[in-house]
Amino acid sequence: MAALLLTVFVALTFLTCVPGGEGLDLLRTSTTSGNASSAPAVLCRCSTYPNVTLCWWPEPPHSPPLHYVISYSERHKPGSVNMCTPSPPSSSSSSSSSSLSSSSAQQLWRCHLPSLKLYTDYIVNVTAVYPAGTSSHLTSFMLEDIVKPDPPEGVTVSHHHGRKFLVQWNPPPTWNNLDLFPLKYHVQYQWESRDGPRSVNLGPFENTSVELKALGLGRLYLFQVCAEDLLGLGQCSDWSSPAQLHTPHTTTQL
Ligand SMILES: *[C@@H]1O[C@H](CO)[C@@H](O)[C@H](O)[C@H]1NC(C)=O
Ligand SMILES: *[C@@H]1O[C@H](CO)[C@@H](O)[C@H](O)[C@H]1NC(C)=O
Ligand SMILES: *[C@@H]1O[C@H](CO)[C@@H](O)[C@H](O)[C@H]1NC(C)=O
Ligand SMILES: *[C@@H]1O[C@H](CO)[C@@H](O)[C@H](O)[C@H]1NC(C)=O
Repeated sequence: MAALLLTVFVALTFLTCVPGGEGLDLLRTSTTSGNASSAPAVLCRCSTYPNVTLCWWPEPPHSPPLHYVISYSERHKPGSVNMCTPSPPSSSSSSSSSSLSSSSAQQLWRCHLPSLKLYTDYIVNVTAVYPAGTSSHLTSFMLEDIVKPDPPEGVTVSHHHGRKFLVQWNPPPTWNNLDLFPLKYHVQYQWESRDGPRSVNLGPFENTSVELKALGLGRLYLFQVCAEDLLGLGQCSDWSSPAQLHTPHTTTQL
């Protein structure tokens, strides 16, 4: 009879497309006697195609679960289930956290999925286990859709010759298959004009430098670079940290 007093809560959210290509939010189920919102919100990203895929989700602030069970399987082979061992949120910034810099303020659990097959639909099931029940989040993706490199590093801009300037950068160090899966780069520069902020986007470029000829005099420019898979898989990385350039006020200063 006690079972009758339990309010068993079953909530389903179908097919929400997550903007930013971090996987298709397939299904959220909650079978706890508590709260549907306690299903973890999972995002997945491939920061090194094809072999480094990371899924992450924030620790629910109100009621942390006892533990998580993470499994993944090919969508069309539901029998072949693999398990993933999650890493708890930690205050120390590990190397893998570089790919999550935009969300590093939050306490994130993470799971590395090794060696996924190319052009294959996967389903990842992150289940939070509570004393009173479980709460699962299913997310589905194909590796090619969730590619997002880490940003390029070491962006510099220097005077080249005449009124020409050279912007240079290094590929993201985490992208370790550069020979097999080259990157292309987009360059953005911004400055303040009388009419407000202005920006110019250049590229894509396959090499790691670009010469600029038409910068105005006496301005402060900010240059940033993003990296994208050469074939256009997934999306461009976040913008790199900016490099600054003060152009001189007169050409005689060049
Ligand atoms: C349900 O979740 C909300 C927001 O996360 C929280 O404020 C509330 O206390 C939760 N209720 C239960 C019964 O856990
Ligand atoms: C990914 O592949 C590259 C090149 O094949 C290799 O150097 C690297 O160690 C691999 N990384 C992982 C995490 O498997
Ligand atoms: C997700 O994983 C949990 C825990 O292993 C399991 O109980 C549940 O049935 C799984 N959900 C689906 C839809 O496979
Ligand atoms: C980079 O590539 C572009 C076109 O692909 C070329 O015009 C440019 O000269 C190259 N820059 C360097 C520094 O090699």
